[in-house]
Amino acid sequence: MHRIFTGIRRIYGHYPATQTLVRGKEMQEVPFIDHAWLEVQNGRILALGSMDALPENNPAERIDLKGAWIMPGFVDSHTHIVFAATREEEFRMRIAGRSYEEIAAAGGGIINSAMRLRQTDEDTLYEAAASRLRLMIAHGTTCVEVKSGYGLDTESELRMLRVIRRLAANFPIPIRATFLGAHAIPPEYKENRQGYIDLLCRDILPRIAEENLADFVDVFCDRGYFTPVETLQICEAAAGFGLRPKIHANELGYTGGVQAGVKAGALSVDHLEHCGEDEIACLLNSNTLPVALPGCSYFLGIPFAPLREMIDRGLPVVLASDFNPGSSPGPSLQMVWSLACARMKLLPEEAFNAITLNASAALDVSADCGSLSPGKRADFLVMQGEPSLSIIPYHFGVNHVQEVYVGGVRFEA
Ligand code: NIG
Ligand code: FE
Repeated sequence: MHRIFTGIRRIYGHYPATQTLVRGKEMQEVPFIDHAWLEVQNGRILALGSMDALPENNPAERIDLKGAWIMPGFVDSHTHIVFAATREEEFRMRIAGRSYEEIAAAGGGIINSAMRLRQTDEDTLYEAAASRLRLMIAHGTTCVEVKSGYGLDTESELRMLRVIRRLAANFPIPIRATFLGAHAIPPEYKENRQGYIDLLCRDILPRIAEENLADFVDVFCDRGYFTPVETLQICEAAAGFGLRPKIHANELGYTGGVQAGVKAGALSVDHLEHCGEDEIACLLNSNTLPVALPGCSYFLGIPFAPLREMIDRGLPVVLASDFNPGSSPGPSLQMVWSLACARMKLLPEEAFNAITLNASAALDVSADCGSLSPGKRADFLVMQGEPSLSIIPYHFGVNHVQEVYVGGVRFEA
């Protein structure tokens, strides 16, 4: 396949191919080219430029985008889209005044999802996750991370991970799998926490490695879930199987999750609704990326992570959807973009960088995704009207993405 897209009113996000992320003040800028073309060969970007310098006598198939503008597809570096059932009843309980933690303590939350997933077969889980993924792609996501963590026993965790690998085999976008067996202590291990951790480390991790079912490991290191000591123990066992951590940290309290993640060499620490000076200082001294999930803050009514301060202190920041049935049941990174601007005071350009280039670094896919650079995948979104990065977060609740190209081919849901 060899194509040239012409008649592009504007291309946003053509960073140099070697640039893996932007930090601090750099996050305010997004490069663009007006009146442009983009050449694609075998799913990758070969070259791009301005229409005044369109290569002549190029044998490539021409596709005229007729004045539309384009940007790289979004990278969603944190999701839980394999689940058996929605949890509207918990939503109603929260509306009536109960908190996420109270509902979880009463058998709701992650345990509620686990009980239902254990009774659901692989094909049913696959079909439901695939339809969520189609919805995400229609809203502009072209690379995604998906976690296990609603099985909490050997067979159910492996089943979830197989579903994720099947999504990766059947969809044209890059999909990474994260083992989150340490999402909660299941009821049968309530009096034997260490027994559950041993099950994760000694039984499930070797099976995952044998079938190559995961790329990363995650632990919910927070109040009422796993401690920093337990988190380090699980990360160490996972490192023995080549899995790098991405940690759920500081959603519910100041529990040392950020510090534990940094100590374990995590690629990212995610959530960060409770983040103060110690956590920010710790991140500044590390290569671990902060990932905020404003859909969760919005939906649970908990604080937003202090991303404004993090950027002002010079950090590179990332935004993700956290799409899951309990704390953030939304597929759209356009909505996340809007929440980041309206509620966390990020500029539209900063939030754009946080769901594209920086998000690709948080998933270790910068060589393939996150910007429209020669050598990377030709995954891009087509928008109509006046080119503007501000219109997307401003005109919220609307899907601005008209067409999605994956590997230079239009994606049909
Ligand atoms: O990222 N915080 C932990 N895990 C998920 C929510 C899980 C659930 O409630 O089902 C999250 O918000
Ligand atoms: Fe999550």
